[in-house]
Amino acid sequence: MEQYDTLVENQYYTPGLFENILERLKQQEVDISKVSRGNIAGVDEFHVRGAEVSLELAKEVELKNSKVLDVGCGIGGPSRMLADQFNCKVTGIDLCQEFIRTARGLSEIVGLQYNTEFLQASALDLPFNKGSFDVVWTQHVQMNINDKGKFYSEINRVLSDQGMLIYYDIFRKNSADVNYPVPWADNSSVSFLGTIKNMNNILIELGFNKFHTTDQTSKAILFLSDLFEKLKMNGPPKLGLNVLMGKSTGEKLLNILKGLEEGKIVLQSGIYKKQNQ
Ligand SMILES: C[S@@+](CC[C@H](N)C(=O)[O-])C[C@H]1O[C@@H](n2cnc3c(N)ncnc32)[C@H](O)[C@@H]1O
Repeated sequence: MEQYDTLVENQYYTPGLFENILERLKQQEVDISKVSRGNIAGVDEFHVRGAEVSLELAKEVELKNSKVLDVGCGIGGPSRMLADQFNCKVTGIDLCQEFIRTARGLSEIVGLQYNTEFLQASALDLPFNKGSFDVVWTQHVQMNINDKGKFYSEINRVLSDQGMLIYYDIFRKNSADVNYPVPWADNSSVSFLGTIKNMNNILIELGFNKFHTTDQTSKAILFLSDLFEKLKMNGPPKLGLNVLMGKSTGEKLLNILKGLEEGKIVLQSGIYKKQNQ
């Protein structure tokens, strides 16, 4: 494994994650033979605004029955949502083996193991043939990736003609860096925030058409401010993103909120369509 891959794996490594989630479900008296997606919703979407924003994005286009690749799938919540609600056949890849093991285990306990599959792989070297997917879905991943050209060209390669890239990401607005830690990086060694303009230039150069973009910044600020109010009143949830981010969860989320409020970073979702090539 290259040094960069190891740094990213270490950033997200959470030993015994699947067992920890099962234990927390049991503590809440959830019957492990009858776990629903709702029971694990607090933990299985690792991005600002969780399941809510994924569903909004999925509804922006016709996804029903699509073959989807979820790049940097984490523990697989968005993949399971697409499989469950839109009958998609979803493959998720992630560098972090512990996340892949947990994604497989969670799909199994909610009964979605036949519509979702998860593989440990690098976004920069996707183990799929040209034109294998109708849709590539990626949320909060490219902030860890320095070689943006390679990242988007691999996505382009595995998409079929007229295929869609659907993303939801954090971008830098100016040259000022965020304060660390943030959810994707404890320090600058694994953080590579790029600009929206740079991403757009790469995608247009590759032959994509911009279909639709949405500035998600103000919704993210509202969401995070509300979350801090709730945390003040109720303390950390039994099964929330604190399970993935550990002791520094509050500090990481506060640094995103500050970065958004100070105008250093922005959130955007969007859809680009691949032209016939
Ligand atoms: C913040 S999490 C988001 C997970 C998931 N997309 C979600 O929204 O729930 C970022 C994920 O990207 C993965 N990742 C980062 N760099 C990667 C790379 N080069 N190849 C594959 N996965 C990568 C990390 O391991 C981590 O699981």
